[in-house]
Amino acid sequence: MILGLETSCDETAAALVTADGYIRANIVASQADLHARYGGVVPEVASRRHLELVSPVVREALAQADATLDDVDRVAVTQGPGLIGALLVGLSTAKALAWARRLPLVPVDHLDGHIASLYLQPAPLEPPFLCLLASGGHTMLVDVESYGTQRILGSTLDDAAGEAFDKGARLLGLGYPGGREIDRLAREGDPAAYDFPVARVPGLDFSFSGLKTALLYATKKLSPEELERQRADLAASYQRAIVRALVERVREAAEQVGAARIAVVGGVAANSELREALADAALAPLDLTTDNAAMIASAARFIEPVPYPGYLGLDAFASR
Ligand SMILES: Nc1ncnc2c1ncn2[C@@H]1O[C@H](COP(=O)(O)OP(=O)(O)OP(=O)(O)O)[C@@H](O)[C@H]1O
Ligand SMILES: [Mg+2]
Repeated sequence: MILGLETSCDETAAALVTADGYIRANIVASQADLHARYGGVVPEVASRRHLELVSPVVREALAQADATLDDVDRVAVTQGPGLIGALLVGLSTAKALAWARRLPLVPVDHLDGHIASLYLQPAPLEPPFLCLLASGGHTMLVDVESYGTQRILGSTLDDAAGEAFDKGARLLGLGYPGGREIDRLAREGDPAAYDFPVARVPGLDFSFSGLKTALLYATKKLSPEELERQRADLAASYQRAIVRALVERVREAAEQVGAARIAVVGGVAANSELREALADAALAPLDLTTDNAAMIASAARFIEPVPYPGYLGLDAFASR
Protein backbone atom coordinates (compact mmCIF):
# COMPACT_ATOMS: atom_id res chain seq x y z
CA MET A 1 0.00 0.00 0.00
CA ILE A 2 1.00 3.58 -0.61
CA LEU A 3 0.59 6.12 2.19
CA GLY A 4 -0.11 9.54 0.65
CA LEU A 5 0.20 12.90 2.39
CA GLU A 6 -1.06 16.27 1.19
CA THR A 7 -0.53 19.60 2.99
CA SER A 8 -0.01 22.12 0.19
CA CYS A 9 -2.74 24.56 1.20
CA ASP A 10 -5.45 24.40 3.85
CA GLU A 11 -6.35 20.71 3.85
CA THR A 12 -4.38 18.25 5.96
CA ALA A 13 -4.88 14.92 4.20
CA ALA A 14 -3.67 11.32 4.39
CA ALA A 15 -4.75 8.34 2.32
CA LEU A 16 -3.94 4.71 1.75
CA VAL A 17 -4.14 3.47 -1.82
CA THR A 18 -3.22 0.06 -3.21
CA ALA A 19 -0.80 -0.40 -6.11
CA ASP A 20 -3.74 -1.11 -8.42
CA GLY A 21 -5.55 2.09 -7.41
CA TYR A 22 -8.10 1.09 -4.79
CA ILE A 23 -8.67 3.66 -2.03
CA ARG A 24 -8.46 1.97 1.37
CA ALA A 25 -8.64 5.20 3.35
CA ASN A 26 -9.04 8.86 2.50
CA ILE A 27 -9.00 11.39 5.34
CA VAL A 28 -9.21 15.13 4.73
CA ALA A 29 -9.16 17.60 7.62
CA SER A 30 -10.18 20.93 6.18
CA GLN A 31 -9.00 24.11 7.83
CA ALA A 32 -11.58 26.19 5.93
CA ASP A 33 -13.41 27.24 9.12
CA LEU A 34 -10.17 28.41 10.67
CA HIS A 35 -9.38 30.69 7.70
CA ALA A 36 -12.96 31.81 6.98
CA ARG A 37 -12.76 34.74 9.39
CA TYR A 38 -9.79 36.13 7.41
CA GLY A 39 -11.56 35.67 4.05
CA GLY A 40 -8.72 33.51 2.73
CA VAL A 41 -5.89 31.20 3.72
CA VAL A 42 -3.29 32.71 6.10
CA PRO A 43 -0.08 30.76 5.33
CA GLU A 44 1.46 30.80 8.81
CA VAL A 45 -1.85 29.82 10.42
CA ALA A 46 -2.14 26.96 7.91
CA SER A 47 1.37 25.64 8.67
CA ARG A 48 0.74 25.59 12.39
CA ARG A 49 -2.57 23.80 11.97
CA HIS A 50 -0.98 21.21 9.65
CA LEU A 51 1.54 20.50 12.38
CA GLU A 52 -1.25 19.82 14.87
CA LEU A 53 -3.34 17.74 12.49
CA VAL A 54 -0.87 15.68 10.49
CA SER A 55 -0.22 12.87 12.99
CA PRO A 56 -3.90 12.36 13.97
CA VAL A 57 -4.86 12.39 10.29
CA VAL A 58 -2.28 9.70 9.43
CA ARG A 59 -3.45 7.64 12.40
CA GLU A 60 -7.06 7.99 11.31
CA ALA A 61 -6.22 6.90 7.76
CA LEU A 62 -4.47 3.77 9.09
CA ALA A 63 -7.46 3.04 11.32
CA GLN A 64 -9.92 3.50 8.45
CA ALA A 65 -7.93 1.04 6.33
CA ASP A 66 -7.64 -1.31 9.30
CA ALA A 67 -3.88 -1.22 8.68
CA THR A 68 -0.63 -0.37 10.45
CA LEU A 69 2.58 1.16 9.17
CA ASP A 70 3.75 -2.44 8.56
CA ASP A 71 1.34 -2.54 5.61
CA VAL A 72 2.87 0.54 3.97
CA ASP A 73 5.37 -0.11 1.16
CA ARG A 74 6.07 3.47 0.18
CA VAL A 75 5.26 7.00 1.27
CA ALA A 76 4.06 9.63 -1.22
CA VAL A 77 3.91 13.34 -0.49
CA THR A 78 3.13 16.61 -2.22
CA GLN A 79 6.44 18.42 -2.84
CA GLY A 80 4.88 21.51 -4.49
CA PRO A 81 3.49 23.82 -5.74
CA GLY A 82 1.75 25.38 -2.75
CA LEU A 83 2.41 27.31 0.46
CA ILE A 84 6.01 26.58 1.37
CA GLY A 85 5.54 26.35 5.14
CA ALA A 86 2.50 24.12 4.69
CA LEU A 87 4.31 21.85 2.22
CA LEU A 88 7.29 21.47 4.58
CA VAL A 89 5.06 19.98 7.28
CA GLY A 90 3.89 17.21 4.94
CA LEU A 91 7.31 16.64 3.43
CA SER A 92 9.05 16.42 6.83
CA THR A 93 6.39 14.04 8.12
CA ALA A 94 6.71 11.85 5.05
CA LYS A 95 10.51 11.79 5.33
CA ALA A 96 10.31 10.87 9.02
CA LEU A 97 7.81 8.07 8.44
CA ALA A 98 9.71 6.65 5.47
CA TRP A 99 13.13 6.98 7.06
CA ALA A 100 12.10 5.33 10.32
CA ARG A 101 10.93 2.27 8.36
CA ARG A 102 13.54 2.40 5.60
CA LEU A 103 10.82 2.81 3.01
CA PRO A 104 11.17 4.56 -0.35
CA LEU A 105 9.56 7.98 -0.77
CA VAL A 106 7.78 9.45 -3.80
CA PRO A 107 7.73 13.25 -4.15
CA VAL A 108 4.61 14.25 -6.10
CA ASP A 109 3.74 17.42 -8.00
CA HIS A 110 0.37 18.61 -6.69
CA LEU A 111 -0.96 19.22 -10.21
CA ASP A 112 0.02 15.71 -11.32
CA GLY A 113 -1.90 14.66 -8.22
CA HIS A 114 -5.06 16.40 -9.41
CA ILE A 115 -4.74 14.65 -12.79
CA ALA A 116 -4.14 11.30 -11.06
CA SER A 117 -7.53 11.64 -9.30
CA LEU A 118 -8.77 10.21 -12.60
CA TYR A 119 -6.65 7.05 -12.33
CA LEU A 120 -8.33 5.61 -9.24
CA GLN A 121 -10.72 2.68 -9.02
CA PRO A 122 -13.57 1.90 -9.56
CA ALA A 123 -13.60 3.79 -12.89
CA PRO A 124 -10.00 4.62 -13.79
CA LEU A 125 -9.34 6.69 -16.92
CA GLU A 126 -6.42 5.78 -19.17
CA PRO A 127 -4.36 8.32 -21.14
CA PRO A 128 -4.38 9.81 -23.72
CA PHE A 129 -6.84 12.58 -22.93
CA LEU A 130 -7.05 16.36 -22.82
CA CYS A 131 -7.31 17.57 -19.24
CA LEU A 132 -8.80 20.81 -17.96
CA LEU A 133 -7.26 21.45 -14.55
CA ALA A 134 -9.21 24.18 -12.78
CA SER A 135 -8.41 24.75 -9.12
CA GLY A 136 -7.88 27.50 -6.58
CA GLY A 137 -4.38 28.33 -7.78
CA HIS A 138 -4.23 27.03 -11.35
CA THR A 139 -6.21 26.85 -14.56
CA MET A 140 -4.59 24.98 -17.40
CA LEU A 141 -5.15 22.74 -20.36
CA VAL A 142 -2.90 19.70 -20.33
CA ASP A 143 -2.43 17.25 -23.15
CA VAL A 144 -1.88 13.99 -21.24
CA GLU A 145 -0.21 11.63 -23.68
CA SER A 146 0.67 8.88 -21.21
CA TYR A 147 0.98 8.51 -17.43
CA GLY A 148 4.34 10.25 -17.40
CA THR A 149 4.19 12.46 -20.48
CA GLN A 150 2.18 15.64 -20.67
CA ARG A 151 2.25 19.00 -22.38
CA ILE A 152 0.72 22.24 -21.13
CA LEU A 153 -1.29 23.80 -23.97
CA GLY A 154 -2.55 26.87 -22.13
CA SER A 155 -2.94 28.42 -18.71
CA THR A 156 -4.41 31.49 -17.07
CA LEU A 157 -2.77 34.84 -17.64
CA ASP A 158 -4.08 36.23 -14.36
CA ASP A 159 -6.56 34.68 -11.89
CA ALA A 160 -7.30 30.97 -11.66
CA ALA A 161 -10.91 29.89 -12.19
CA GLY A 162 -11.28 28.90 -8.53
CA GLU A 163 -9.76 32.22 -7.51
CA ALA A 164 -12.33 33.99 -9.72
CA PHE A 165 -15.08 32.07 -7.89
CA ASP A 166 -13.59 32.95 -4.50
CA LYS A 167 -13.09 36.65 -5.32
CA GLY A 168 -16.56 36.87 -6.87
CA ALA A 169 -18.05 35.32 -3.76
CA ARG A 170 -16.34 37.92 -1.62
CA LEU A 171 -17.77 40.74 -3.79
CA LEU A 172 -21.21 39.20 -3.33
CA GLY A 173 -20.76 38.99 0.42
CA LEU A 174 -20.72 35.18 0.45
CA GLY A 175 -18.52 33.02 2.65
CA TYR A 176 -15.08 31.54 2.05
CA PRO A 177 -14.35 29.31 0.16
CA GLY A 178 -16.65 30.87 -2.38
CA GLY A 179 -16.96 28.41 -5.25
CA ARG A 180 -19.43 26.16 -3.49
CA GLU A 181 -21.45 29.17 -2.25
CA ILE A 182 -21.79 30.65 -5.75
CA ASP A 183 -22.69 27.21 -7.12
CA ARG A 184 -25.47 26.88 -4.53
CA LEU A 185 -26.84 30.41 -4.92
CA ALA A 186 -26.66 30.33 -8.74
CA ARG A 187 -29.37 27.66 -8.79
CA GLU A 188 -31.86 30.28 -7.55
CA GLY A 189 -30.79 32.97 -10.05
CA ASP A 190 -31.17 33.87 -13.72
CA PRO A 191 -27.88 33.31 -15.62
CA ALA A 192 -29.05 35.69 -18.38
CA ALA A 193 -29.74 38.59 -15.99
CA TYR A 194 -26.26 40.07 -16.48
CA ASP A 195 -24.12 39.93 -19.58
CA PHE A 196 -20.64 39.34 -18.16
CA PRO A 197 -17.71 39.18 -20.60
CA VAL A 198 -15.83 36.06 -21.58
CA ALA A 199 -12.24 37.13 -22.29
CA ARG A 200 -10.86 36.13 -25.67
CA VAL A 201 -7.10 35.93 -25.23
CA PRO A 202 -4.90 34.53 -27.99
CA GLY A 203 -3.92 30.86 -28.12
CA LEU A 204 -5.34 28.50 -25.55
CA ASP A 205 -4.85 30.66 -22.47
CA PHE A 206 -7.47 31.96 -20.04
CA SER A 207 -8.10 35.30 -18.38
CA PHE A 208 -10.55 35.97 -15.56
CA SER A 209 -9.50 39.36 -14.17
CA GLY A 210 -11.79 41.35 -16.52
CA LEU A 211 -14.76 39.29 -15.43
CA LYS A 212 -14.00 39.94 -11.78
CA THR A 213 -13.79 43.69 -12.50
CA ALA A 214 -17.12 43.55 -14.35
CA LEU A 215 -18.73 41.98 -11.29
CA LEU A 216 -17.13 44.62 -9.07
CA TYR A 217 -18.66 47.44 -11.18
CA ALA A 218 -22.04 45.70 -11.30
CA THR A 219 -22.15 45.40 -7.50
CA LYS A 220 -20.94 49.00 -6.97
CA LYS A 221 -23.98 50.32 -8.83
CA LEU A 222 -26.34 48.62 -6.40
CA SER A 223 -27.55 49.69 -2.99
CA PRO A 224 -27.19 47.07 -0.24
CA GLU A 225 -30.92 46.23 -0.60
CA GLU A 226 -30.67 45.90 -4.37
CA LEU A 227 -27.56 43.74 -4.02
CA GLU A 228 -29.46 41.51 -1.65
CA ARG A 229 -32.27 41.12 -4.21
CA GLN A 230 -29.89 40.65 -7.18
CA ARG A 231 -27.40 38.37 -5.45
CA ALA A 232 -28.66 35.12 -6.95
CA ASP A 233 -28.89 36.61 -10.45
CA LEU A 234 -25.37 38.01 -10.15
CA ALA A 235 -24.05 34.65 -8.93
CA ALA A 236 -25.80 32.77 -11.75
CA SER A 237 -24.58 35.17 -14.45
CA TYR A 238 -21.04 35.25 -13.07
CA GLN A 239 -20.86 31.47 -12.85
CA ARG A 240 -22.25 31.18 -16.39
CA ALA A 241 -19.40 33.41 -17.68
CA ILE A 242 -16.68 31.35 -15.94
CA VAL A 243 -18.15 28.06 -17.10
CA ARG A 244 -18.53 29.33 -20.67
CA ALA A 245 -14.90 30.47 -20.74
CA LEU A 246 -13.72 27.06 -19.53
CA VAL A 247 -15.98 25.01 -21.80
CA GLU A 248 -15.26 27.03 -24.95
CA ARG A 249 -11.48 26.79 -24.45
CA VAL A 250 -11.42 23.09 -23.65
CA ARG A 251 -13.58 22.25 -26.69
CA GLU A 252 -11.37 24.45 -28.87
CA ALA A 253 -8.24 22.72 -27.56
CA ALA A 254 -9.74 19.27 -28.04
CA GLU A 255 -10.39 20.09 -31.66
CA GLN A 256 -6.89 21.52 -32.19
CA VAL A 257 -5.05 18.48 -30.83
CA GLY A 258 -7.65 16.00 -32.02
CA ALA A 259 -8.29 14.72 -28.50
CA ALA A 260 -10.75 11.86 -28.37
CA ARG A 261 -11.41 12.38 -24.66
CA ILE A 262 -11.78 15.40 -22.38
CA ALA A 263 -11.26 15.19 -18.61
CA VAL A 264 -11.80 17.75 -15.85
CA VAL A 265 -10.00 17.86 -12.47
CA GLY A 266 -9.41 20.31 -9.59
CA GLY A 267 -11.73 22.03 -7.15
CA VAL A 268 -13.73 23.82 -9.85
CA ALA A 269 -14.55 20.40 -11.35
CA ALA A 270 -17.03 20.17 -8.44
CA ASN A 271 -19.09 22.94 -10.03
CA SER A 272 -22.50 21.60 -10.98
CA GLU A 273 -22.97 23.81 -14.05
CA LEU A 274 -19.53 22.86 -15.39
CA ARG A 275 -20.24 19.16 -14.80
CA GLU A 276 -23.49 19.48 -16.70
CA ALA A 277 -21.91 21.42 -19.56
CA LEU A 278 -19.19 18.77 -19.90
CA ALA A 279 -21.31 15.74 -19.12
CA ASP A 280 -19.60 13.84 -21.96
CA ALA A 281 -16.18 14.34 -20.31
CA ALA A 282 -14.41 12.20 -17.72
CA LEU A 283 -15.08 14.16 -14.53
CA ALA A 284 -12.99 13.67 -11.41
CA PRO A 285 -15.09 11.94 -8.72
CA LEU A 286 -16.79 14.71 -6.72
CA ASP A 287 -15.02 13.92 -3.44
CA LEU A 288 -11.62 13.93 -5.18
CA THR A 289 -11.95 17.32 -6.92
CA THR A 290 -10.63 19.46 -4.05
CA ASP A 291 -7.35 18.67 -2.31
CA ASN A 292 -6.95 15.16 -0.95
CA ALA A 293 -4.15 12.64 -0.46
CA ALA A 294 -5.70 9.75 -2.42
CA MET A 295 -4.84 11.60 -5.63
CA ILE A 296 -1.25 12.08 -4.40
CA ALA A 297 -0.88 8.36 -3.64
CA SER A 298 -2.47 7.65 -7.02
CA ALA A 299 0.10 9.79 -8.85
CA ALA A 300 2.89 8.01 -6.96
CA ARG A 301 1.93 4.75 -8.65
CA PHE A 302 3.42 6.10 -11.87
CA ILE A 303 6.58 7.76 -10.49
CA GLU A 304 9.96 6.14 -9.73
CA PRO A 305 10.37 6.22 -5.91
CA VAL A 306 13.49 7.69 -4.29
CA PRO A 307 15.15 4.88 -2.30
CA TYR A 308 16.01 5.14 1.41
CA PRO A 309 17.68 7.42 2.53
CA GLY A 310 18.29 9.56 -0.57
CA TYR A 311 15.14 11.60 -0.06
CA LEU A 312 16.24 13.25 3.18
CA GLY A 313 17.71 16.17 1.23
CA LEU A 314 14.57 16.83 -0.84
CA ASP A 315 13.12 20.31 -0.59
CA ALA A 316 9.60 21.61 -1.16
CA PHE A 317 8.87 24.12 -3.94
CA ALA A 318 6.30 26.92 -3.87
CA SER A 319 5.80 27.26 -7.63
CA ARG A 320 6.60 25.19 -10.66
N1 LIG B 1 -18.83 23.75 -6.53
C1 LIG B 1 -17.82 24.55 -6.85
N2 LIG B 1 -17.94 25.44 -7.86
C2 LIG B 1 -16.90 26.24 -8.21
N3 LIG B 1 -15.73 26.25 -7.59
C3 LIG B 1 -15.55 25.40 -6.57
C4 LIG B 1 -16.57 24.50 -6.15
N4 LIG B 1 -16.10 23.78 -5.10
C5 LIG B 1 -14.83 24.22 -4.89
N5 LIG B 1 -14.49 25.19 -5.76
C6 LIG B 1 -13.25 25.96 -5.83
O1 LIG B 1 -12.16 25.08 -5.92
C7 LIG B 1 -11.00 25.72 -5.35
C8 LIG B 1 -10.28 24.75 -4.46
O2 LIG B 1 -9.79 23.72 -5.27
P1 LIG B 1 -8.44 22.97 -4.98
O3 LIG B 1 -8.50 22.44 -3.59
O4 LIG B 1 -8.20 22.03 -6.05
O5 LIG B 1 -7.46 24.21 -5.10
P2 LIG B 1 -6.09 24.50 -4.40
O6 LIG B 1 -5.49 23.24 -3.98
O7 LIG B 1 -6.35 25.58 -3.40
O8 LIG B 1 -5.26 25.11 -5.59
P3 LIG B 1 -4.12 24.36 -6.46
O9 LIG B 1 -4.58 22.95 -6.65
O10 LIG B 1 -4.08 25.12 -7.72
O11 LIG B 1 -2.88 24.45 -5.66
C9 LIG B 1 -11.48 26.96 -4.61
O12 LIG B 1 -11.13 28.10 -5.36
C10 LIG B 1 -13.00 26.75 -4.57
O13 LIG B 1 -13.73 27.95 -4.59
MG1 LIG C 1 -5.33 21.64 -5.27
